[in-house]
Amino acid sequence: MKNVILALMLFSAFSAFAKEVTIYSVYPGEELAPIFAPFTERTGITVNFVSGTTNELVAKLQEEGRNTAADLYLDKDMTFLSAAKEKGIFKNFTSQTVKGNVPAHLRDNQDLWTLVFYRARVIMYNPNKVSADELSTYEALGDAKWYKRLCVRTSTNSYNQALGAYFVRHLGAMKTFDLLTSWVKNFSVDPISNDRGVIQAVADGKCDVGIANTYYLPAFIRANPEFPVKVFFPNQKDFGAHVNGVGIGIVKHAKNVKEANLLLEYFTSVEVQTPVAAAFSQYPVNPKADMIKILKDFGAFKEDTVNISEVAERTSLASGLFPLANYK
Ligand SMILES: [Fe+2]
Repeated sequence: MKNVILALMLFSAFSAFAKEVTIYSVYPGEELAPIFAPFTERTGITVNFVSGTTNELVAKLQEEGRNTAADLYLDKDMTFLSAAKEKGIFKNFTSQTVKGNVPAHLRDNQDLWTLVFYRARVIMYNPNKVSADELSTYEALGDAKWYKRLCVRTSTNSYNQALGAYFVRHLGAMKTFDLLTSWVKNFSVDPISNDRGVIQAVADGKCDVGIANTYYLPAFIRANPEFPVKVFFPNQKDFGAHVNGVGIGIVKHAKNVKEANLLLEYFTSVEVQTPVAAAFSQYPVNPKADMIKILKDFGAFKEDTVNISEVAERTSLASGLFPLANYK
């Protein structure tokens, strides 16, 4: 009986101060809080947020080391998560539920981080100028046929660096350089500073084909159902379209590891995946979750199934190839 009482006292003392989890995030806490409110209600685990830029948060994590308050780190692009992994920021998550919720290729190969929502970086074309059967691969946009018809975003952006890493993984560095060089020859205008600008340029006839992330197009279509830009998923007969996404991992020096694993289970559950993917017009990583109609209308497609960390770890090599190819 004495032992039981002692155990009960220990248990309540433990649970009194272990019920919280802290996320370092590039998204503001106000945006994330509503997503996790039901989690707190159900488990009693409070979720704290510290927001900043990628550079600020990674520097903070390194500086704080063992003394960090962070249990998880959330970022918007796999190139940033991969760079954080190389700096030793993460420890692997162990939850079998998370592994069941997320297909293996969308999780880091050591389960140090996982994507939670994702998108494809695709060819967007003007159907008044181009028919889908003229399109095939990213590489083919370097053909003479597309001379002065292609527009792209600036190469220093992480989305293009990740796309470059995909090329390096599938084609090797030399062929990636050739591909980028062939694209540059076909640019109709200088690289544009954002994806929305690329899509608008395709619609305005400044170019006939462009490269952009899938989630940017729905807003244009909602505003104008006749908006003259369509999605083409490239490389369907070989590697599959390049995908990238928002991801999260448990921090190496996390104090609340059990709670962090529980949060990942919740974040990757259908209950969260369906509404949050919808809010951001992204694809849910959990294949049991639903996606918005506009994305369904883009069609089912073959995505790259090489493990995302094997793609992302080639980012620095890829980033050196863009300037060599004179792709600004
Ligand atoms: Fe974006």
